[in-house]
Amino acid sequence: MIETFSRKVATLSGAALLAAGAVLTPLGASADNHGGSEMPGKAIAFDRGKGNCLACHHIEGGQSPGNIGPPLVAMKARYPERAKLHAQIYDATTINPESAMPPFGKHYVLSPEELDLVVDYVWTL
Ligand code: HEC
Repeated sequence: MIETFSRKVATLSGAALLAAGAVLTPLGASADNHGGSEMPGKAIAFDRGKGNCLACHHIEGGQSPGNIGPPLVAMKARYPERAKLHAQIYDATTINPESAMPPFGKHYVLSPEELDLVVDYVWTL
């Protein structure tokens, strides 16, 4: 009885691992080069369940971008101060009170660590 149970658990956790692998692989494997292909912030920005920045922004190498927001290009030229870029992504309403952009930091959509990684990546665009 106990043996059957633990075998079931083993099978289930194996399946969960496989599923997690299937979800993670396309993120890690997204082959693009702009701003460094392996930047972890890129995976977070492109992940439809995390940053989902592509819902509104064109980002080089991203599939099916929306156009509610401006294309994310020449970021370092337009945001010489990283803190300003961080503020825009943390809570866009501090810059434009009527912004349609979700406040990713303020609403904990992204953790502070994830937000930092996304800012690092976006700054390279
Ligand atoms: C629901 C739509 C939406 C999503 C999702 C979204 N944004 Fe935005 N974003 C906007 C809009 C609209 C603007 C235009 C300025 C404003 O209203 O704040 C903007 C502006 C920006 C700007 C300033 C661009 C400039 O030209 O100065 C940056 C940087 C930015 N977004 C980054 C991001 C990142 C990074 C993500 C994902 C973590 C993201 N956005 C997700 C709508 C969105």
